[in-house]
Amino acid sequence: MVEIVYLNGSFIPYSEALVPFEDRGMLFADGIYEVVRAYDGRLFALEGHLQRLVASAQEIQLEIPPAAELQEALLGVMERSGLRDTSIYLQVTRGFAGPRSHGVPQGIRPTVFAAARPVPRPDPRHVAEGARAVTVVDNRWHMCHVKSIGLLLNNLAKQAALDVGAQESLFVREGVVTEGAATNTFAVFGGELWTHPEGPLVLSGITRQIVIELAQAEGIAVREEPYLASRMYGAQEVFVTSTNLEVLPIQSVDGRSIGAGVPGPVTRRLQAAFTRRTAALATV
Ligand SMILES: Cc1ncc(COP(=O)(O)O)c(C=O)c1O
Repeated sequence: MVEIVYLNGSFIPYSEALVPFEDRGMLFADGIYEVVRAYDGRLFALEGHLQRLVASAQEIQLEIPPAAELQEALLGVMERSGLRDTSIYLQVTRGFAGPRSHGVPQGIRPTVFAAARPVPRPDPRHVAEGARAVTVVDNRWHMCHVKSIGLLLNNLAKQAALDVGAQESLFVREGVVTEGAATNTFAVFGGELWTHPEGPLVLSGITRQIVIELAQAEGIAVREEPYLASRMYGAQEVFVTSTNLEVLPIQSVDGRSIGAGVPGPVTRRLQAAFTRRTAALATV
């Protein structure tokens, strides 16, 4: 089957989705993106994703198409893909402005691309028994709340985990755990759920916010406060969250077992609550 993607207002075969080589996304990683999950044909947390895209665009002074148009793109690629459970990639770059030049051009048309892909599901063993994580130094810029397509340091961090047989890297900035290479990070201390506060050092994850709300509804105290990596090794539980991974337990960090080395009760409850939330969406 020919894959149909969205490019600048049209639904076209992937092989025809071409942009000029000197698109500013290519030259400068001058663009932003979202990954939106659909469960049984329904877009999950769409409003949050679109709001975050708008916020990212404002931060980098990028004019993006109206939300209704972006929503059409997301729905359009999903419907044309035939996938009901899908992970939809949406990217907006500043577009093509002629030969490479650093200044930020005005009045050019952004390049908008969307594609619906099979969900890159985590290994079921890791969901059930916990994944392994390592820590890496967080050398990223101080605008991590912008969902920039400039992900080189995130990619190198992820690879550092894969190189040692782990699944995710946890960034540590000045001793503090900020977030994962492509996830937000949570730890349980004394029955309370801790995660780094929102701000320029982390992406405001959509899943992070939903998990915080689910935890509060479950009567679990939530502390949006920084915590040290040295403290994390002694946490009762650690897990990471993202649109694609949902709630993924972490059984060890840097080879040191977290808690009993198996997913703990808070993680389990939140995994179950998250699954209920996505299932409820499908029956709305
Ligand atoms: C650096 C980073 N933090 C956190 C997340 C999780 O965000 P969300 O839950 O919105 O997918 C991602 C997802 O791609 C990410 O790349």
